[in-house]
Amino acid sequence: MTMASSLMHQLCFAKHPLLPRDSRLQPRPQFPSVRFPSFSVRASSVLAVEPDLGTQKDQTLEAEIFSCPICYEPLIRRGPSGLNLEAVYSSGFKCNRCNKSYSSKDNFVDLTLTAGLRNYIEVKPRRTELFRSPLVAFLYERGWRQNFNYGGFPGQDEEFKMAQEYFKPAEGGLLVDVSCGSGLFSRKFAKSGTYSAVIALDYSENMLRQCYEFIKQDKAVLKANLALVRADVSRLPFSSGSVDAVHAGAALHCWPSPSNAIAEITRVLRSGGVFVGTTFLQFTPSTPWILRLFRQRNAQNISFLTAEEIEDLCTSCGLTNYTSKIQQSFIMFSAQKP
Ligand SMILES: C[S@@+](CC[C@H](N)C(=O)[O-])C[C@H]1O[C@@H](n2cnc3c(N)ncnc32)[C@H](O)[C@@H]1O
Repeated sequence: MTMASSLMHQLCFAKHPLLPRDSRLQPRPQFPSVRFPSFSVRASSVLAVEPDLGTQKDQTLEAEIFSCPICYEPLIRRGPSGLNLEAVYSSGFKCNRCNKSYSSKDNFVDLTLTAGLRNYIEVKPRRTELFRSPLVAFLYERGWRQNFNYGGFPGQDEEFKMAQEYFKPAEGGLLVDVSCGSGLFSRKFAKSGTYSAVIALDYSENMLRQCYEFIKQDKAVLKANLALVRADVSRLPFSSGSVDAVHAGAALHCWPSPSNAIAEITRVLRSGGVFVGTTFLQFTPSTPWILRLFRQRNAQNISFLTAEEIEDLCTSCGLTNYTSKIQQSFIMFSAQKP
C-alpha cells in the first residue's frame, strides 16, 4: 500500500463502529470543488475513472452504481470502492448535476429525496410508516414475520429457495432486495455467493438498523458484498438498466403506490433482468367471506391486490414471462425485463 492510499484508507474508514475508537474521530471525506467527466455505468463492473484532479489525485473517484434520486445521474463517490458495508459506510456520495451530497449514517447510505432536509418532514401512508417504528423493526424477525405462515407463506427458507430458482438468469449479477425489512432475505442472498453484490434497500431507518444488527452477528455476511441503502421504492437510486435482479419479499402491499414501484423496478432492471416479489393476495377463491370483507375495508391502509391486478401491473409496465405460485393468500410472482 502506498503512503497516499494508506492515508486515504485511514480517512475513509473513519467513524466506522467496527474500527477502533480513535479512528472514528477522523473527518469524513470531503468533495473537491471540481467538475467530473460523465461516464456510463454497468451494474456488475464499477468503472474507475481518473479525472484531472490536480492535488486530489490520491483520492478514489469512480462511476457509481448509485444514482441521484433527483436526476438519476450516477453519483460520484469519494471513498473506497466496492459494495460492502465498510466501503459504502466510509464513502461520501455527491451528484454533481444537482450539487447535492449524500452521506452514510448508522451504516446505511440515505438516498431518499428527503435526505439531509432540515425543515421538511415527509409522512408516508400508514402501511409504510408502521415499519419505521423501532418496536416493529425489533419485533419483525422475532415473531412478526413468522406469523405470515398462517396466511400461506411457506417460510423464509422455502421462499428463498423458490426465489433463487427464478433468479437463475441473473446469477453473478447485482441483486437489489427492495423493502428488505430487517434483511432476512438480503443476508441469505449475500451468503449464497450467487450474486456479485447485494443491496439491502428499505425506506425504514429502523429496519436498516436492525439489518445491521443481524449482519454484525454473522462474520460471513459482514464480509460479503452487501450494502445497506435507504430509499423509496418509487424513486430507486440506480441508473436505468443497471440492475440484474430485484427481490421484493412481502412488500407490495406496504408500498404507497404499487404501480409507481413496479414501473421504477422495471426502469432499473437491465434487459433480461428478473423481478421476483411476494405479497398477500386480497383474496383467493377459497378466502372466507369474512376475511374478504376485512381486506376490502382495509384497502385504504394496506393495498392487498388480486392475482390478476399484480399480473396486469407487471405486464402494463412492459415486463414479460410473468409467472406465479399461489398458496392460500400467498403469491410469489416473477417477471422479466425484455
Ligand atoms: C412486511 S415488510 C417485508 C420485509 C421483508 N422483505 C420480508 O420479506 O419479510 C415490508 C417492508 O416494506 C418497506 N416499505 C414500505 N414502504 C416502502 C417504500 N415506499 N419504499 C421502500 N420500502 C418500503 C417497509 O419499511 C418494510 O420494511
